[in-house]
Amino acid sequence: KKLCDRFCCIRNMNNIILLGPPGAGKGTQADLICELCNVPKISTGDMLREAVASGSALGLKVSNILDTGGLVSDDIIGSLIKERLTKADCVNGSLFDGVPRTIGQAKQLTEMGVIFTHVIEIHVEDEIIVNRMSGRRVHPASGRNYHIDFNPPKEPGIDNETGEALIQREDDKPETVLNRLSVYHDQTKPLTEFYMNLSKEGDINFYKVDGSKSVEEVFKNISSNL
Ligand code: AP5
Repeated sequence: KKLCDRFCCIRNMNNIILLGPPGAGKGTQADLICELCNVPKISTGDMLREAVASGSALGLKVSNILDTGGLVSDDIIGSLIKERLTKADCVNGSLFDGVPRTIGQAKQLTEMGVIFTHVIEIHVEDEIIVNRMSGRRVHPASGRNYHIDFNPPKEPGIDNETGEALIQREDDKPETVLNRLSVYHDQTKPLTEFYMNLSKEGDINFYKVDGSKSVEEVFKNISSNL
C-alpha cells in the first residue's frame, strides 16, 4: 500500500529522463537540471558503482558487467528503482540519468506507475565520445564529473567541492568505451522511437539536443525546453 500511495503521487510530478550514449554529458547536465528543478538525480550508474565500491552482494554480482561495458539485468535495475522511489525526496519528481536503458526497463517503469513529463535525448557522434571519455575525471563519492580540457576542475586532479582526489573510471578505457557504444546502439537507442511515439500521443514532451556544443550551451537549450 505504501508503494502504491507513493506511485500515485509520482503520477502528477515532474519526472524527467535523460537519454543518450555513454559520454554524451548526461551526468553533467543532470546535476544542472536537478539544481534548476529542485529534484533528485536517480543515476543507476552511480548506484551500481556505489554497490561495487561497498563490496556488497550486488556489487560483486555486477562488477564485471560494469568493467566490460555490458548492461545489468532489467530485474536488478527494476528493484533498485522501485526502492529508490520510496524515498521522500522523490515526492516532487526525479531526474532519471541513464535509466531506462532498454525497452524492458521503460515498460517496468510504466508498470510501476511512473509517468514521465519530459524525455531529453542528448545526441553526440561516436567519434567525439571516444575522445571525451579519455579526458573524463570523476569524484567517486559524489559522482561529480570533470574533463581535463572541456570542464576542468579548479585544481588539476582535485574535486572542487571537497578537495578530494579525482579518479579515472575503469570503464573509460578505449576498448570498453567501444563496447558500451555498441551496446547503446543495440539496446538503448530504440528508446528514442519508443518515447517519440508516446510524445505523438501527447503524453510526453520529447526533444533532442545537440550534445556536441559546450556544457553551457547544451544546458541553455535543455532549460529553455523544461
Ligand atoms: P553510467 O554511469 O550511466 O554510464 P553511461 O550512461 O555510459 O554514461 P556516462 O556516465 O559514461 O556518461 P554521461 O553521458 O553521464 O557523460 P558525462 O556527463 O559523464 O553507467 C555505467 C555502467 O553501469 C553501464 O555501462 C552499465 O554497465 C551499468 N548501468 C547503468 N545503468 C544501467 C541500466 N539502467 N541498465 C543496465 N545497466 C546499467 O560526460 C562525459 C565526459 O565529457 C566528462 O568528462 C564531462 O566533463 C565531459 N563533457 C560533458 N559535457 C560536455 C560537453 N558539452 N562538451 C565537452 N565535454 C563534455
